[in-house]
Amino acid sequence: MPNHSLDLPSFHQEQNSKIWASVLDELGGPAHDNIVGPTAQQLHLSARGSGRGVVANLRDWAGQGETIDAKTATSNMVAVFAAKHLFGHDAETSSEDIAETIDGFVQGLLSFPLNIPGTRFHKCMKDKDKLEKMITAKLKERIICPEKGQGDFLDQAVKDLNTDFFLTENFIISVTMGILFATVESISTSVGLAFKFFAEHPWVLEDLETEQEAVIGKRDDKNSPLTWDEYRSMTLTMNFINEVLRLGNVFPGILRRALKDIPYNGMLVGYTIPAGWTIMVVTSTLQLNPEIFKDPLAFNPRRWKDIDQETASKNFMPFGGGTRQCAGAELAKAFFATFLHVLISKYRWTKVKGGDVARRPMLRFEDGIFVNISKKP
Ligand code: HEM
Repeated sequence: MPNHSLDLPSFHQEQNSKIWASVLDELGGPAHDNIVGPTAQQLHLSARGSGRGVVANLRDWAGQGETIDAKTATSNMVAVFAAKHLFGHDAETSSEDIAETIDGFVQGLLSFPLNIPGTRFHKCMKDKDKLEKMITAKLKERIICPEKGQGDFLDQAVKDLNTDFFLTENFIISVTMGILFATVESISTSVGLAFKFFAEHPWVLEDLETEQEAVIGKRDDKNSPLTWDEYRSMTLTMNFINEVLRLGNVFPGILRRALKDIPYNGMLVGYTIPAGWTIMVVTSTLQLNPEIFKDPLAFNPRRWKDIDQETASKNFMPFGGGTRQCAGAELAKAFFATFLHVLISKYRWTKVKGGDVARRPMLRFEDGIFVNISKKP
């Protein structure tokens, strides 16, 4: 598959994967295939240690006794998590409302570019400057004093500055900002969709509850955090995540640039995609193919038990495809599954209002997705 174009400087694939792998490494494990176990542990450590992880956030949401917008609340939780593991920002001790700043940056990225006070774009630019200043200060500090490192992404990037010719300080800052966006927007939308689908299809929740009860039932200590083996055993939860991503398809599609003329033999026989053109592969339509996904518009996680690996790899691409696919796929799944594990095993909730979605071009909740969460008795 040809290389694709993104608004990032172009660089060699091997180095690209290395820097992404280093992000994931700092978030909990060595590389794509192996990151999930340690990441799940990391999420729990974050939950227990800093008090701002999944467990603590759900406790806060339930403790508020008021309706919360699940998408916004998840965005805030993920923003704090990402800022800590990317550039060592400690939300507990900082006077800066990092979640608010990241939200302002993320929300305005795809807005009309009218840079006057009061517009979403103006706020995005201000928050972008603020974030870039914070990351720059941390980066300079790490370059001068590497021993102040916290085992986060910046530490790894600073180590690589000495060995990888393509890396510059500006590049590290751009990448950090890009990953902030990729993490916060994708995970919060997926969690928002989960609440929507639970409300619309209560039987799905029953399936997942049965699985989570079985996971906890096998433990000696019922309150111990999710382990790697438990995570791997949660088949129904993973099927649920697949189905959310199949129908939700958070990102509208993937971009590729044609490096040479490509003869196209589909519906437009005789048409050639000229070299240099950028192509957007609309993976969301692929995932609605009725020949592969029977009754494709129905939300049905049970369908995944009959879909083999090969069929899935060719027809289900929420994280993109080829060698440039999403670097955070395993992290995203681990975060999502951990969230569902804690939510389903310890809490109950009702949807109060909202849940309508639109694509503009990212998936958006038009009026939020509001839920009341309370602790299970
Ligand atoms: C539900 C969650 C997520 C979804 C659906 C998603 C989806 C995608 C998609 C479709 C792409 C384009 C891939 C391609 O062109 O083939 C992508 C790229 C990327 N994603 Fe994600 N993503 C998610 C979460 C994350 C997270 C949590 C991170 C951060 C750790 C992340 C980091 C990245 C990066 C760095 C790239 C660019 C990779 C490259 O160009 O080499 N993503 N993602």
